[in-house]
Amino acid sequence: MARLGVGLIGTGFMGKAHALAFSAAASVFDLDRRPHLAVLADADARRAEACAERWGFEASTGDWRALIAEPRVEVVAITTPNHLHAEMALAALAAGKAVYCEKPMATGLADARRMAEAARGRRTLLGYNYLRGPAIGLAKSMIAAGELGEIVAFKGRFAEDYMADPAVPHSWRCVRALAGSGALGDLGSHLIGFALHLVGEVQAVSGEVSTVIAERSTARGKAPVENDDQVHAVLRFANGARGVIDISRVAWGYKNHLAVEITGTKGTLAFNQERLNELRLFRKGDAGFATILAGPQHPPYGAFSPAAGHQLGYGDLKTAEVGHLLAGLAGSDALYPNFAAGLVIERIAAAIERASTERRWVDLAEL
Ligand SMILES: NC(=O)c1ccc[n+]([C@@H]2O[C@H](COP(=O)([O-])OP(=O)(O)OC[C@H]3O[C@@H](n4cnc5c(N)ncnc54)[C@H](O)[C@@H]3O)[C@@H](O)[C@H]2O)c1
Repeated sequence: MARLGVGLIGTGFMGKAHALAFSAAASVFDLDRRPHLAVLADADARRAEACAERWGFEASTGDWRALIAEPRVEVVAITTPNHLHAEMALAALAAGKAVYCEKPMATGLADARRMAEAARGRRTLLGYNYLRGPAIGLAKSMIAAGELGEIVAFKGRFAEDYMADPAVPHSWRCVRALAGSGALGDLGSHLIGFALHLVGEVQAVSGEVSTVIAERSTARGKAPVENDDQVHAVLRFANGARGVIDISRVAWGYKNHLAVEITGTKGTLAFNQERLNELRLFRKGDAGFATILAGPQHPPYGAFSPAAGHQLGYGDLKTAEVGHLLAGLAGSDALYPNFAAGLVIERIAAAIERASTERRWVDLAEL
């Protein structure tokens, strides 16, 4: 089987998730080319070397520019903190490589626009892995087939508690220049991605972003939290539907509560990422909500297992995302969300921030 050279930057939470997914993809999917783990980069060269050994990369480096320059590397996967995405993606595109970048795309709209511009006519994919779930694919096809009737409402919540404790120390995630927005970019980008994927274009937004814990401890004392801990917003969709979203990184008890409900004139669909193998459905005339359990008839589930209800997990969604990337690079899938689609998510997030600052509805045409 022909090989596709992979260069991966970053060895943290997402670096490992990408490495596992690239290793598994050729076993799960029927691919033209097998991902070849060519080069692994991390700012910490010794960590890059140790992880390369464990994860099966051929080479490692402490210099991400050397990874991009390496002829064996055909696709560059970026799993570094947000402020590095633009510089790394632009350099990889300039070197003629395909780019697979973690979300959020960038720390601000100017960088996101530069990335989308450079990616025109090129192969790019962003790490919106939750879109790959079998229940989300089923929801999308049911909505497209009109099974819920005309969509009238979207309700979305993405709650986690990873920064709920004031004792959680200050980090890059609290610094505007390194993270961009806070919960909005980190969690809200996924929720906005769901709204666009399941309901469609957003025309206008209103909302408020707020910081709950104003400062956190560093090695030298306290430092300010420069971005939002929570977001409450309303959306107006181009098809007339209305939406409400609630995003928090300080919501005690929640670990990955990416929950959406879509209501149409004939029924309601409900999904929660903490139970990713289930889709709840109510159609007019039903006695109550029914739970549909994901199985091989709901792609990409069948590629992983022939048995319904045996369940996929987070890592499988990352493998499914890599499968989609490889199909896109082979020309058989249209990559989504690519940088152009990512820019739409960034514009909606920026519009919510502007609505909060200026205390008014913001039309997306303004950004
Ligand atoms: N799609 C998802 O579900 C998901 C989940 C978590 C994080 N993310 C995104 O993934 C990205 C990384 O998050 P994480 O949680 O893995 O962070 P992390 O802190 O665990 O890992 C970041 C990695 O980048 C490396 N790094 C930093 N600067 C570097 C440089 N100049 N050169 C090379 N390597 C460098 C660090 O050493 C570390 O290995 C963020 O953009 C985040 O938003 C996505």
